[in-house]
Amino acid sequence: MCGIIAYFGKKNVAPILIDGLKKLEYRGYDSAGVCLLNNGKLQSAKVKGRVSELEKLALGLNPANIGIAHTRWATHGEPNEVNAHPHFGCPAGRDPATRDKPEIAVVHNGIIENYSALKEILEREGHIFVSKTDSEVLSHLIEKFYDGNLENAVVKALKLVEGTFGIAVLCSKENKIVVARKGSPIVLGVGEEENIVASDAVAVLPFTKKVVYINDNEMIVLTEGNYSIKNFEGQAVEKVIDEIKWTATEIEKKGFKHFMLKEIFEQPNAIENTLRGRIDSENKIKLSIDIDFNLIKRIVIVACGTSWHSALIGKYLIEKLAGFSVDVDYASEFRYRNPIIGTGDLLLVISQSGETADALAALREAKAKGAKTLGIINVVGSTISREVDSGIYLHAGPEIGVASTKAFSCQVTALLLLALYLAQQKGKVISKEFFDDIRDLPQKVEETLKQSDKILLLAEKFEDSKNFIYLGRGLNFPVALEGALKLKEISYIHAEGYPAAEMKHGPIALVDSEMPVVFIATKDSTYSKILSNMEEVHARGGQVIALLSETDNSVSNLTENIIMVPKCREELMPIINTVPLQLLAYHIANLKGIDVDKPKNLAKSVTVE
Ligand code: G6P
Repeated sequence: MCGIIAYFGKKNVAPILIDGLKKLEYRGYDSAGVCLLNNGKLQSAKVKGRVSELEKLALGLNPANIGIAHTRWATHGEPNEVNAHPHFGCPAGRDPATRDKPEIAVVHNGIIENYSALKEILEREGHIFVSKTDSEVLSHLIEKFYDGNLENAVVKALKLVEGTFGIAVLCSKENKIVVARKGSPIVLGVGEEENIVASDAVAVLPFTKKVVYINDNEMIVLTEGNYSIKNFEGQAVEKVIDEIKWTATEIEKKGFKHFMLKEIFEQPNAIENTLRGRIDSENKIKLSIDIDFNLIKRIVIVACGTSWHSALIGKYLIEKLAGFSVDVDYASEFRYRNPIIGTGDLLLVISQSGETADALAALREAKAKGAKTLGIINVVGSTISREVDSGIYLHAGPEIGVASTKAFSCQVTALLLLALYLAQQKGKVISKEFFDDIRDLPQKVEETLKQSDKILLLAEKFEDSKNFIYLGRGLNFPVALEGALKLKEISYIHAEGYPAAEMKHGPIALVDSEMPVVFIATKDSTYSKILSNMEEVHARGGQVIALLSETDNSVSNLTENIIMVPKCREELMPIINTVPLQLLAYHIANLKGIDVDKPKNLAKSVTVE
């Protein structure tokens, strides 16, 4: 999704903005631009394509110490140079309506829903639009309202706007940057006589660890060596300065070819971080959840993408271990259908970024209807983490690869902790062996990662396949969904995940000698059933790939494509079993020469609905 960066300090701004944009690249984008303010003149550069191409142009502009920049992920208008941000008002003198106005430049994340109506009015007043974007109405509106005070003009413009925005605005007549948010994340990095604003803390991190998070309907005004934060009524807002716990080296590749591969290999450590301090020496689960579960009758989990797959696993775990009734919903479906939720319900929102627009909207809807809310979030200080009643942070460290990997295993780990916590709240006894197995989990994931070279051989064999089917049952059904999602996200091979028993109701029609079918068939309570499904695929000439528990030789007559994983208890299988599927997807995509960290059309953090 779009990314914003803005800087006002003493240094040459262009390299700072370009470095910031490079840090935001992982979010997904198709074009980029910068605008610098130097001696009352705005200078800009835009490109369709990569930030590396923009870099050459931006570094060629006259040096300045104030600037804004943007990576665009197209919503309204195709990806091209004209539609790239920043957007401007009418160039001075081009139209009588704006002849005496200064130049205005705006970068925008979000969507202006009433842009057509606003554009029509502005065009009638003489404003000339050049792009096909919704964002361009902002620069013209601000220009229209400008009467010598940029902040006032921005507020007047934003009051007319419906939709979501995170914006940074420059004006040729004022040495300042005005930033505002509603529904799109913005974080301020506080430096020494210099300040930086970004849509994502990752871009601020190399510059400073001191940050201020702003809320909806608030604005930041950056002036020389200073900043102020106000609401849209112009009243000052008191803010605390937080410290980001991540380090700048955590957002380096550390010798791995891709962030995704690094993050796959970080899983043992990341899971350890999720577990740290949460199981005490007497095997009591310690979570700081300020919710009285005696009052909770039902849990509804909402999430998107990979986080939704963790949610499905969470349902199995919580129902099985704690006996709570759990519903799982796509966040995007939940909020658009007047959901039945209220007092006595707990809404659990799972989100790596803590910024996904649909997850945030679902949370707000449930809160408004009286439900208690709990978050399982990775990014500390993110909007969702600040709006839930209680939360469980993953402590997985920054996840940069667009395809989520370590966040998934940590989410499932956190859900397991939650399930056990709820079970203990209900007075259920959990065996010591269960806790011993959880403590062994990072080690088992480490052992699983040793299969990477073997999985590469399978990837070489199947890289040209056009379709894949992934099948699993019970706790391994969401694993099948996640394996299929990983493959399609980064290798662009069509893949479907299915509950194995449902195969006979459709997917079996697709099975022929060209079709690889991945069975997640580790030794759980459904093992014997899934072996029968494997026989059925084999009998129809399908190419079976079997994920089995160590030393299981029972299907060697059906396939030689076998991945073995360490034996473990059923509840831990989804974490262990997902790892080889992540590696299979990674190796296939890498063999195909795809830039795995920047898959086409995808975004890391989906901040529009
Ligand atoms: C995007 C990402 C996925 C992620 C999903 C939900 O689609 O590409 O990797 O699973 O958003 O994101 P969240 O941050 O809410 O977990």
